[in-house]
Amino acid sequence: MSNATIEAVERPGVGGVKRPAAARRSFPLWPILAFIAVWLGGSWLVVGGWLSPLLPGGWGTVVIALAATPIPVWTLARGIRGDSYPTATTRLLILRPFWFAMLFMPMLAIVTLAGGLAGLPFGAAGVTGRWTLGAGATLIGIAAVVGYVGSRRLVVKQFEVRMPRLPPAFDGLRVVQISDLHVGPHTPRRFLARVAETVQKSNPDLIVITGDQVDDFARDVELFNDAFGTLEAAHGTFAIAGNHDVYAGWNAVRDGLSAAGFEVLVNEAVAIERRGQRLWIAGTGDPAGKGWPGGSGQGVAPDVDRTLAGIPRDEPVLALAHNPVLWPALASRGVDLTLSGHTHYGQFAIPSRGWSMASPFQKLAMGTHREGQSLLYIHPGSNYWGIPFRIGTPPEVAVLTLRASDDGDAWISEVKT
Ligand SMILES: [Fe+2]
Repeated sequence: MSNATIEAVERPGVGGVKRPAAARRSFPLWPILAFIAVWLGGSWLVVGGWLSPLLPGGWGTVVIALAATPIPVWTLARGIRGDSYPTATTRLLILRPFWFAMLFMPMLAIVTLAGGLAGLPFGAAGVTGRWTLGAGATLIGIAAVVGYVGSRRLVVKQFEVRMPRLPPAFDGLRVVQISDLHVGPHTPRRFLARVAETVQKSNPDLIVITGDQVDDFARDVELFNDAFGTLEAAHGTFAIAGNHDVYAGWNAVRDGLSAAGFEVLVNEAVAIERRGQRLWIAGTGDPAGKGWPGGSGQGVAPDVDRTLAGIPRDEPVLALAHNPVLWPALASRGVDLTLSGHTHYGQFAIPSRGWSMASPFQKLAMGTHREGQSLLYIHPGSNYWGIPFRIGTPPEVAVLTLRASDDGDAWISEVKT
């Protein structure tokens, strides 16, 4: 695979140059900004109410903190609109603290309020509120450190997949899946190199990348290609669209990936051959393609019927679908194995309980699934989104060995080594 420089890729706002208004993303900014302001402002008022007696400057310091709240919001809004491309420094020093604040400030406000209310009958609301605030801040600090360390791990998980329709020529095929790299200016090149090296060392016959190649900006496909453009596998490296690729501008992301030699599939399928036998690789579009204001016209909304249209009914199919919500439609049409990503397992999971932070929001949130003879694996992602925080679900490289089924039954299971 070539490691070509991507000249065709859109470069939004590079060097402080604004894109023309027509090229900016249409996005309902003000309601979101108002929500963020209330979310953080309300949290600051609660925490400040209990903390101000201890702070140098008292309420004045709280007001300064409150006033600082909209600054990252403005930076974020300009990024979402496509007016600017945040540097790595902006991402690390302005946006990352903002995301931490978005997550943790409301938690601190809640524990402070709860502590204060508990002490109210005894006339000690101030003291008990400050104690629970201190305890909450300590726990959150510990969790932040543990979560950061978890986000920098990288595990290799091995799976055996029994497929009744798998032709003998493909018995033993090693499919290596990575997903949700969310590459941006803040992403350490060394980490990406570690992921790429791990993929290559896994002796892949086929490499699949199941979406969210970039985080927010199409131009970051160049960073993605720098890291993964040299991957090699006998049957190629396939990529599909994730919702963040759509938000960033799918046409530009797709062009960049294709120029680097990735086989990009959108609502289409191709067959790979071994000794005259065929296995179909199908790639869907992503649901974000039909709902995102800038997504229309990019031709990336999922069309499962079109994806499978050219495949003979009796031939085996490995489908790639970023969002596992598409699996029931794929399974009902006889797709043998689907590989997904998207959920990240909420970046907080209790695998032994089969539970993750994504579970309350999505029925198909994590792990392996079977419906009749159709199988699904939901990959947790190979990096992180938002803040470097993963507990119970580290970044992963999945190695799936396909096997013809002895007993005509389909199943998928992790092989513990
Ligand atoms: Fe993602």
